[in-house]
Order: sequence, then C-alpha cells, then structure tokens
Amino acid sequence: MTRMSVILKSRPHGAPKPANFALVEQPMPLPAPGEVLTRTIFLSLDPYMRGRISGRASYAAPIPEGGDMTGETIGEVLASHDPAFAPGDIVVGAYGWASHVVTPGSRLTKIAPPAGVPLSAYLGVLGMPGVTAYSGMTDIGQVKPGETVVISAASGAVGSVAGQLAKRAGARVIGVAGGPEKCIFVQESLGFDGCIDHRAGNLETELDLLCPDGIDVYFENVGGALQKAVWPRLKVFGRMIMCGMVAQYNATAFEPGPNLMEVVGKRLRLQGLIVSDKPERFAEWRALAAPWVAEGSLKYREDVVTGLENAVEAFIGLLDGQNFGKLVVRVGPDHI
Ligand SMILES: NC(=O)c1ccc[n+]([C@@H]2O[C@H](COP(=O)([O-])OP(=O)(O)OC[C@H]3O[C@@H](n4cnc5c(N)ncnc54)[C@H](OP(=O)(O)O)[C@@H]3O)[C@@H](O)[C@H]2O)c1
Repeated sequence: MTRMSVILKSRPHGAPKPANFALVEQPMPLPAPGEVLTRTIFLSLDPYMRGRISGRASYAAPIPEGGDMTGETIGEVLASHDPAFAPGDIVVGAYGWASHVVTPGSRLTKIAPPAGVPLSAYLGVLGMPGVTAYSGMTDIGQVKPGETVVISAASGAVGSVAGQLAKRAGARVIGVAGGPEKCIFVQESLGFDGCIDHRAGNLETELDLLCPDGIDVYFENVGGALQKAVWPRLKVFGRMIMCGMVAQYNATAFEPGPNLMEVVGKRLRLQGLIVSDKPERFAEWRALAAPWVAEGSLKYREDVVTGLENAVEAFIGLLDGQNFGKLVVRVGPDHI
C-alpha cells in the first residue's frame, strides 16, 4: 500500500513555481499508539503556506526541503490506535498535502455537519478562516452600529465572514476585491453596502466616494497599495485588524510602512492576530455559526479544485487572486 503526497523540493524566490514542488509516492504510514490514519477527503489551501515554504523565521516552523507540504484536511478514519476514534469517523485536523495522513488523535476533532452543510465548510466558513474573521472582529474590530468598515480580500474565506459579521453588528461595510465578478458577489450575495475593484486602479477616489466620512475599522488581509490608500482615511479611534498581507507574500523586498505618528494623533489601534492563539474559539465559532450556515443566513463561496495533482497550480494562483472563494482540493470522495 502506498500514499501520494506533495513535497517541497526547493524554496521559491519570489512567486512559487511548479518546479519547487513534487508529487511523490511513499509507503503507507502506520499509526503508532495514540495515532490515527486518515484518508483525505478535502485539503485546504491557504495563503499562510507561502510563509511556511520561505524558510524565514516566523510564528511557525518552516517546512524543510524534501518535507511534505502542510495543510489542514478533512479525512475519514481508516485505522485508529486512539480509543476516541473509530474507522468511518470524519475528522478535521490532520495536516498534509497527501492522500493519507497519520496524526496524533489529540489533534483531531470529529465533525458531524448539520443537514445542508458540506464537509468542506469545516475548512472555510466553519473552519480556520471563519474563526480568524470571528476573532478579529470580536477581539480587535469591536464594531459599533453605524461605523464604516472596510474589508480587503472581501470575497475570500476570511473577508467574506468578517464583512458579514460587521453587517450583523450594524456597520456600513465596504469590500475590496479583485475584478467585477468578485465585486458583484460581495455586494449581491454577501450583502455588503459597496465594493471596490482594486484592479481598476482608482482606489483613493472610490474610497472617498464610498467612505466620505472616513473608515472606523479596516480588516487588513492584503497590505500593499490598499493599505496605503486606507491609512490616511482612518478616523480618530480607528482600528486596524492586522490579519495578513497576501500582496507581499511573494515579495523579495519590502516597501516602507505608514507614518506611525498618525497612531498617536488619531489614537489608532493596530493589533496583529494569529488564529491559533485562542484554540477555544473553534468550538465557540462552530456552535454560533453552524446554524447560520445551515439556514443560509451566513453566505460563503468555495473554489473546489479536483485532485491532489492540481494542488500546486491552485496554490500558486491563490497568491495572485485567481481563486474565487475558499480554496479547497477534493482529494477523495466523501464515502468509499
Ligand atoms: N492571522 C491569521 O491567523 C490568519 C488566518 C487565516 C488567514 N489569514 C490571512 O487572511 C488573508 C486572507 O486569507 P484567505 O484564506 O481568506 O484567502 P482568500 O481571500 O480566500 O484568498 C486570497 C485572496 O487574496 C487576494 N490577493 C491575492 N494576491 C493579491 C495581491 N497581490 N493584491 C491584493 N489582493 C491579493 C485575492 O483576492 P482578490 O482577487 O479579491 O484581490 C485572493 O483571492 C491572508 O492574508 C491570510 O494570510 C490570517
């Protein structure tokens, strides 16, 4: 018995290329005591993976050259040496761009989606990105009714949830997304009050039109030109939820940041967020949001790529805005 997995062959300089990765066949791993063998159903592809292959020091260790790419999966338990799991259980929490993964049972969570909620939702709207949006809005954004909130990468996994939470809090919500199709989705399906196409090249004018009194809360997912345009428009006591800056993940040199003196004058609050800091938030968010997803009041969109062999190309596209919604790879069927 063998398994397929994607390994990191070499570290990219700038944008990753297919040659930086390889799909390899390996012997099937066997679970040791306390471990569980899963067959992968869905693999999540996320922007943070660019950091893991860079070799730069970060809050998480880099993937070694020759090592398996890491990524959260939804899997079916095939064999278990942990009494908490049995063959047939569906779990989230195994990591690896692989057809099969062995994981300590202590890192896995059994899931049982309510009717109408697909398994893949536990990697997106009900998974790590959804929790990121919830944590950012709860701990940092603290949005009040009537405030103006700007959400970058608004059609994506984190941004789509963050904006809908701001709407639920009574804010006026403006999204920023790449291209007219994404902007229509953000306004018409997600219910944002407006959306700016950052690829159209008139960010400042559009922000002035849609946020004439300034911005109370900015959910930062991209950095770059948008951050520069938002910064002078933040209001007194504005908040910036520093979640990520995908526009610079492939950069080989970094541009200077904003003038921090404005933090003093405007009493701004900028706070970084790492979703794993509060693991308890996952169960909290799922209990809150699963009924919203089941009833259709919390909208989301998935971009499903089929086949582990297509994961590399999809991941490269994610760093350039080619995905439309939460990017997942279907690696195997829900049931065999
Ligand atoms: N801190 C944490 O714990 C944490 C956890 C999860 C995610 N994050 C961060 O949250 C952000 C969004 O992640 P996600 O999973 O929701 O991804 P996503 O929005 O589903 O996909 C990434 C999106 O980023 C945008 N993008 C890509 N390259 C860009 C560029 N050069 N300039 C501007 N926009 C670009 C694209 O959207 P457009 O086409 O609309 O521009 C793309 O679709 C990322 O920065 C990620 O690192 C942080």
